[in-house]
Amino acid sequence: SKGTYEFYMLKEIDEQPAVMRRLSTEYLDENGEPVVDDKIVDAVAKADRIYIFAAGTSYHAGLVGQQIFEKFAGIPTEVGYASEAGYHFPMMSKHPFFIFLTQSGETADSRVVLTEANKRHIPSLTMTNVEGSTLSREADYTMLLKAGPEIAVASTKAYTAQVALQAILAKAVGEKLGKQEAKDWNLKHGLSIAAEGIQEIVDGKEAIEKLAKKYLIPSRNAFYIGRGIDHAVSLEGALKLKEVSYIQTEGFAAAELKHGTISLIEDGTPVIALINDPVTADLTRGNIQEVASRGANVITIVGKQFAKEGDTIVLPEIDYYLSALVSVVPAQLLAYYASKDKGLDVDKPRNLAKSVTVE
Ligand code: M6R
Repeated sequence: SKGTYEFYMLKEIDEQPAVMRRLSTEYLDENGEPVVDDKIVDAVAKADRIYIFAAGTSYHAGLVGQQIFEKFAGIPTEVGYASEAGYHFPMMSKHPFFIFLTQSGETADSRVVLTEANKRHIPSLTMTNVEGSTLSREADYTMLLKAGPEIAVASTKAYTAQVALQAILAKAVGEKLGKQEAKDWNLKHGLSIAAEGIQEIVDGKEAIEKLAKKYLIPSRNAFYIGRGIDHAVSLEGALKLKEVSYIQTEGFAAAELKHGTISLIEDGTPVIALINDPVTADLTRGNIQEVASRGANVITIVGKQFAKEGDTIVLPEIDYYLSALVSVVPAQLLAYYASKDKGLDVDKPRNLAKSVTVE
């Protein structure tokens, strides 16, 4: 039940620290070693390429997973829209492994790809929140997100659970393959820092509501920008905001704006910029300058280690590869308040259903 909450979306945002801790307890032992079914780890470790298929928010979680699998498992990884791959099946490597990310386990677009994969005897894993769901039954293996029921149409805790669970699997596979990066990765610590970081952000939600009121609600459009994992989170932040607030929002690779889209920036256009990538932090600062000088109202979401005077939301310091777990939370809250303070039905945005069972 919603308890004292007006909407499920906020309840589910607030539950994320607990979800992080649950995944850590259930999938990592006291020494931080992954507790994942050997059959799954072996099957992924044999692959020469991982293909992730999903839709919407789950697709965005896959974009983060791609970077994590390549870094810690050392296996080339591709991410595709299930809705595209089902009908234009991508060229396969010799030993592909398919991962389906799906909160509901019922998404029709993803089922089409899985049916094709099964015809071709490609091994597959479904990461889902719903035990016994269709995609779980039809894939070779299942890993459960253990996020608890997600009721709001806008997905929040399933996203962070998908990112964390991919990290756990990547570490397990990387260790199996003898990868030093995987062995050295203190994921248990990372997840506990993430849980604390999320808690800090949800505890400060009033400040985020003020930002939504001041900058987002008056605007018809908005942008999210970032590079690397921040780019993946930009896409998710934009989907969240437009889905529940009806403010047209696009997520962009920060440097791409200047290749065309910057012409849309006017006085007062909100641009939410994410900086958690050590490699590109300074470059993104340059892109912020470019939009600010054209009149944009810039909101920055910045990891503590990169923070400068004047930043809007400073996140606790966290490992780049886990940064999405924390940096997505202000974006979820901005979307929530933009919708709620516009008087919209946050949990049931128009034209949408919780699971999309048509192609
Ligand atoms: O149940 P799934 O994860 O397969 O659903 C995929 C998308 O339909 C879903 O993430 C959708 O984009 C959400 N409404 C986004 O908040």
